[in-house]
Amino acid sequence: MSEKSTPVTDDYIRYLAKHTTQEDDFLRKLKAAAKAKGIPPIWISPEQGSFMQILLKAVHAREVVEIGTLAGYSAIWMARALPADGGLRTIEISPEHADIAERWISKSDVAGRITVHRGKAEEILPQFAANSADAAFIDADKTSYPLFLRESLRIVRRGGLILADNAFAFGRLFESSDEAVAAIQAFNHIMAQETALQSIIVPVGDGLWFGVKL
Ligand code: DHB
Ligand code: MG
Repeated sequence: MSEKSTPVTDDYIRYLAKHTTQEDDFLRKLKAAAKAKGIPPIWISPEQGSFMQILLKAVHAREVVEIGTLAGYSAIWMARALPADGGLRTIEISPEHADIAERWISKSDVAGRITVHRGKAEEILPQFAANSADAAFIDADKTSYPLFLRESLRIVRRGGLILADNAFAFGRLFESSDEAVAAIQAFNHIMAQETALQSIIVPVGDGLWFGVKL
């Protein structure tokens, strides 16, 4: 029975969350403030934040690209895993979200490491040089994930990481419900076939694609 995985139920998630780095007061306050401003509460979980920090540290990441800033929550988690002179470029299409993110990032302990790029990722990503990042975190518009993946594969160096959020499609992966779910289903197929990556979906948060560029 060794091939059978233990089902990761809520009890196990709570347990593993308790046994890793915790969210700090600053990030808790950021979420509360963003919620009060009507920002959708679609944060990565603290255990996902911790896991992404571990991955970034494991590859000695100095430069990270993030697609979808929202209020800067995941950007701050990731930037804290970088050296003091490291850099995280995060892209945000919504001016309101970028405003809130920049305000909280400027108050954070990693203000000097994060740059918010305002606009469409389709237009900003091509401006980033090839092999200029150690990792990319793909989030935001699900129908654009294939394009984000192509650009991330160009921007991230060999041996670097491509992470993509929401591989479990908000817990609706096996439903034929809407465009975003269908987009994730199609993207998951693309990831599984992508020969430039070795990757796996890790059942943390809403399913996190974790790929290493070959
Ligand atoms: C949604 C989007 C996300 O990127 C996420 O992590 C959770 C939810 C959404 O669009 O509902
Ligand atoms: Mg997401």
